[in-house]
Amino acid sequence: MSTLWVGTSWKMTKTLAEGRAWAAGLRESLGGGGTSDGTVPAGVQPFVIPSFTAVTTVAEILGEDSPVLLGVQNAHWEDAGAWTGEVSVPQAKDAGARIVEIGHSERREHFGETVETTRLKVAAALRHGLTPLLCIGESDEVKETGGSGEFVLDQARGALEGLSAEELSRVLIAYEPIWAIGEKGRPATVDELIEPFAALGAEYTGRVTGLLYGGSVNLDNAADLLGIEHATGLFVGRTAWQLGGYLELLRIAEAHAAG
Ligand code: 13P
Repeated sequence: MSTLWVGTSWKMTKTLAEGRAWAAGLRESLGGGGTSDGTVPAGVQPFVIPSFTAVTTVAEILGEDSPVLLGVQNAHWEDAGAWTGEVSVPQAKDAGARIVEIGHSERREHFGETVETTRLKVAAALRHGLTPLLCIGESDEVKETGGSGEFVLDQARGALEGLSAEELSRVLIAYEPIWAIGEKGRPATVDELIEPFAALGAEYTGRVTGLLYGGSVNLDNAADLLGIEHATGLFVGRTAWQLGGYLELLRIAEAHAAG
């Protein structure tokens, strides 16, 4: 079975002190790569995506030998220049990031992210050897029409257009239906996710690094969500913001990976 990717975005939460405590706890629990001072979950690739202010702090606390990959929640497509308020992929890499989250629905809704900008950002991340984590997902209105699979395929195809097979193999996709995300969302049932995962899986399974699910993942539904055909991981908000929740999700994934 392929590696299960289980990660969290902190979105716009956590002070530095809170971020430090979370990261130090994770370091203590998982240890460094190849060391015996912690337990790295077998078959699972953990990742954490703090807000920009905490990236270097978390990188330092986790350490260079950490089995945990670090990411940023966004990055600009240009390498440098007069883009006030933006952070580039080389800057993110310099700060310790290995993953660039791209096109989260909150960014599409509030910050004008489009298929075109996601395509440019995926290309920028790949150009610098970072893993793009492309987020896609449909609204409730689209879901009601029964067109979820086609809609998310269009988002993915638009962002991944023109990539070589080698480039595509370095991409992570997170399917996150908008109606399931955050405080206003409701947890999806497995049945609701079968069609979109079938559509995405038919096109991308075996061609990308992973196909993750996100949106109201919790300790009660995580195992079932990992059981969906073509799903190879979880991308989690609220449940993982408490370290205990994240560690429990890693254990659930480890048990799933062990079969
Ligand atoms: P929640 O797990 O809080 O619903 O957030 C999911 C998400 O948006 C991860 O990117």
